[in-house]
Amino acid sequence: MFASAQRNGDYVLFDKGNAPSAGLPSPSDILAALKETGAVICRGYCNTLEEFIAFSERLTQDVPYVGGANAGRAAVDGSDAVYSVTEPSMKKPMPLHGEMHHTHVVPELLWFYCINPATSDGETTFGDGRKILSRLSPDTRRLFEERDVIYRRNYAPDVWRYVYRTDNISDVEDFCRAHHIDLKVQPDGGISTTYRASAIFRSPDGDTFINNILTFAAMEYVRGSAESQVRWANEEEIDRAVLLEVNKVAEQVATAHPWQAGDAMLLDNTRVMHGRRVFNDDQRNIVVRLGMCRDRFPGVGHHNPFLGRNGQPAQISLRT
Ligand SMILES: [Fe+2]
Repeated sequence: MFASAQRNGDYVLFDKGNAPSAGLPSPSDILAALKETGAVICRGYCNTLEEFIAFSERLTQDVPYVGGANAGRAAVDGSDAVYSVTEPSMKKPMPLHGEMHHTHVVPELLWFYCINPATSDGETTFGDGRKILSRLSPDTRRLFEERDVIYRRNYAPDVWRYVYRTDNISDVEDFCRAHHIDLKVQPDGGISTTYRASAIFRSPDGDTFINNILTFAAMEYVRGSAESQVRWANEEEIDRAVLLEVNKVAEQVATAHPWQAGDAMLLDNTRVMHGRRVFNDDQRNIVVRLGMCRDRFPGVGHHNPFLGRNGQPAQISLRT
């Protein structure tokens, strides 16, 4: 293991300040650390966005946001897969979730790079889904083991055109068919999309509670938006007490990372969920990069990059 790596149980930190003469941690150093905790922070190795892109490139086969997973984000410098996370709507707190776990293609790797931290607050949170699963009550755990959930988006006519970047409903139909999404076109021209998934990822290294339940529930029940809903697969509402328990356990497990400029964070997006604390300034500038792991590495991710979340073929190159 790399000489300067430090562990605190929740993540491994590679800090150049502790080993100024050491070179960059190698991809295998980083992947070995990722296997330990699912979360790695690299400090002092990326002074610019270009350096971060080169640093993360060694490990990452890009997966762009598709199908509305990215409606509010701007791609950075014309990049295909490096996105800003500083849109005005993104100052709000975000509960723990897996990136794109409400879709068919789940990236294994999720990078964040801090160009500028917020003057205060704005930490990125992360929490190990294996720990969360182990801390849920037996009844709640059994519910999620036995029942899938569905993620629904209800988009008005102008919204789906924006989200899917097309005026042509047949493009949306093609996309949904390829991504195992059930599409309904409403009489007013709006659409409803429904994607079914388990809240639990199964892996030889341990089952993991990782999903988008809390973000969808927060949009509906906290922000009062009818645009996003999460339900049991038979359309029943998930009991509020269950949602509150999940939220409480997620909060207990979450680590908040106070950013420093130049920090790069890598999460195993098949194991560790992430979120964000509220902030209130325009200076916070953090980018995100998603991808599959370039090299198969036992214990990190458990996806074939050409398979979707439910083991069915997916077209990761299809963009909207
Ligand atoms: Fe996210």
